[in-house]
Amino acid sequence: MDKLIVSGPHKLSGSVKVSSAKNATLPILAATLLFDSPVLLADIPKLNDVQTMLKLMESLGLKITRDQKNLTIDASDVSNLVADYALVKTMRASVLVLGPMLSRYGKAKVSLPGGCAIGARPVDIHLTGLEKMGASIQIDKGYIIAECKRLKGGEVTLSFPSVGATENIMMAAVYAEGETIIENAAREPEIVDLANFLIHMGVPVEGAGTSRIKIIGTTPQKKYASNKPYRPIGDRIEAATFIIAALMAKSSIKVLGFEPWTLDSVLETLEKMGAKFKRLPDGVEVLESGRLKGAVIETAPFPGFPTDVQAQMMSLMCLCEGNSVITEQIFENRYMHVPELIRMGCQITLKGNAAMVEGVESLSAAPVMCTDLRASAALVLAALQAQGESEIQRVYHLDRGYEDLEGKFKGLGAKIERVK
Ligand code: UD1
Repeated sequence: MDKLIVSGPHKLSGSVKVSSAKNATLPILAATLLFDSPVLLADIPKLNDVQTMLKLMESLGLKITRDQKNLTIDASDVSNLVADYALVKTMRASVLVLGPMLSRYGKAKVSLPGGCAIGARPVDIHLTGLEKMGASIQIDKGYIIAECKRLKGGEVTLSFPSVGATENIMMAAVYAEGETIIENAAREPEIVDLANFLIHMGVPVEGAGTSRIKIIGTTPQKKYASNKPYRPIGDRIEAATFIIAALMAKSSIKVLGFEPWTLDSVLETLEKMGAKFKRLPDGVEVLESGRLKGAVIETAPFPGFPTDVQAQMMSLMCLCEGNSVITEQIFENRYMHVPELIRMGCQITLKGNAAMVEGVESLSAAPVMCTDLRASAALVLAALQAQGESEIQRVYHLDRGYEDLEGKFKGLGAKIERVK
C-alpha cells in the first residue's frame, strides 16, 4: 500500500492548476448512458473513482476509449441493466446509473450502495423521486429493482436538497413524458455542470443552480448528439485544498483552473479570518496573509460552506490564533480525521456534531492514517506544516479524488514523496 512521506514546515510558491472536478465528472459519466451516439469528453481526471465508474459502465456494455485525458463513450449497445454489488460497494456515486438506465430502458437493477466511512448515506430521496415519476421500486436481496413503462414528468419535491438525488432525477427526466420540475433541488456547481452537459447534448434543461430545475422530456427515440467534446468544470474542492495549504504556509500562490464563484462561501469565510486574495477569471491568487484568526463555521448545502472542505479547514484552524468551532450538518460521522490530527499536536474536542478547535503555534510530525478522501487531504495539509517527517498511510483514499496531489504540491515547493 502506498504511503506519503511529508516533511515540514516549508513555504509554498508558484502556481498550480486543478483538475476537472470529480463530483462533476462522475454524474456526467453516468449521463452518457442516456445517449445513443458517441459522447466526447475532455480533461477527464485520472482518479480511482473515475476508474470505478468507467469499469461499472463497461460492465453494462458501454464501449469506452481513452486517449490521455479524452474519452469517447459509446452507449449505443447497453447489454446489461444490472449494476453489480462488487462495483457499487466501492463507490456510492455508482447509484447515479439508476436514473439514466430507467429513463432510457424502463428497467434497472442497481445494488444498494450501503454505508460508507462518513455515514449511513441512504438513497431514499432518490427512490421517492423516481417513484413519484411513476417507477415501481422494490428492494430485493440488497438490490434496487426499478421498472416503469415510461417515466412521467410532473413536480418532484425533494425532502432535502440531495446532490445525488437531484442528479439522478435530472437524468431520469430526459425521456420522461412531459416536463419534470424538481423543487428543493441541490444548487451545487456540479449540478449546473451536469445541466450544461445535458444542454450540450441538446436536452432542454432550465434553472440549474436554483432550487427549481425544469427538464423537458422526450421519447428515447430522440437522437440527442454532439460532435464536440465536453469538459467538466474545475475542481473547487481541490482548489480549496491548495488555497488552505498556502494560507497555512503563510505563502502566496496562484490556484488556477476553477471558477472563483464556486468557492464563494469558503473564500468569504477565509477573508473574515484575515486571508487576502485576488480573484482571477480562472482562479485565485492567495496573497501572504500572516497567521489567521479562528472562526465559527457550519457546513450546509451550496451556497453554504461545503462539507467537503470541512476537514481541510479544521487543519488550518488548528494553527489559527484563538478558538474555532465547526458544526458538521451534512454527514453524521465526518470527524475521523480528528484523532489523527490530535496525534500531530492539534487541540480538538468533539461534542456531537460540533468540533471545538483551540489554535496552537505549531504542529509536530507523526505517523497518521487516512480514513476517507477529504480527511486524507486534511492530514496532508497538517503534515506539510508539522515540524519533522510525517508518514501518511492508506493514501488510496486520497487517490479516489485527488489527481497527483503530491506532484502538484512538489511543484509548489513542498517536500512530499510517495513510497510504493
Ligand atoms: C455529494 C458529493 C459529496 C458531498 C455531498 C454533499 C458526489 C459524487 N459526492 O454526495 O462529495 O460531500 O454531495 O455536498 O458528488 N441523504 C439521505 N437520503 C438520500 C440522499 C442523501 O438521507 O436519498 C443524506 C445523506 O446521507 C447525507 C446528506 O443527505 O447526509 C447529503 O447527501 P447528498 O447531498 O445526497 O450527497 P451525495 O450526492 O451522496
